[in-house]
Amino acid sequence: MAKKIRIAIDGVSSSGKSTMAKQLAKTLGFIYIDTGAMYRAVTLFFLQNQVDMENPDSVVKTLENITITFQQTDQGNTCFLNDINVEKEIRGMEVSQWVSQVSAIPAVRRKMVSLQREMGEKDNVVMDGRDIGTIVFPDADVKLYIHSPARLRAERRWLELKDSNPAITVEEIVNNLEMRDHIDSTREDSPLVKAEDATLLTIRI
Ligand code: DC
Repeated sequence: MAKKIRIAIDGVSSSGKSTMAKQLAKTLGFIYIDTGAMYRAVTLFFLQNQVDMENPDSVVKTLENITITFQQTDQGNTCFLNDINVEKEIRGMEVSQWVSQVSAIPAVRRKMVSLQREMGEKDNVVMDGRDIGTIVFPDADVKLYIHSPARLRAERRWLELKDSNPAITVEEIVNNLEMRDHIDSTREDSPLVKAEDATLLTIRI
């Protein structure tokens, strides 16, 4: 099988990287993979099943019962958790509150990275996340690293959330984004960091 092309887009939460990745994948005819959705789906499962996230044995056991796939639907490339479309639930605030803690667990990362590598073996991909250019595909063909100020990101996210959650404030979202950026970039296992050979894009719109 010919070597596949991998485009890695990493960066802080809600920086617009998924919009960019989706558009790029569409233009090139590549598969878009939202790796944040995978960590969000695991988090949703942990919350729904009240898994003790501090207990490594129950985390490992639970991971055996989770399958995560992407399928093309009217919503675009859609995340399925154990064959159920969870695209909507994984974007809610409860999952957002917990996803950074869950994605810092080494066993969770090992499973997700292995799935992501399999996807990148099969197809030409545009993959967005936090560790794609550093850990998942250190030899990616193109690497971008996106940064954008937290308030600006929060204002954009508020516009997306306000209809489904009218009580939500920009302040609450800023706090959540800053907390996640902090956990994501200071965790021990594969923290969010710009790969040396990635191109930095700073978004101010
Ligand atoms: O891209 P996102 O905001 O939907 O990602 C949700 C969380 O998942 C983010 O706070 C950190 C984690 N994540 C990760 O640790 N590694 C990735 N490759 C993608 C996401």
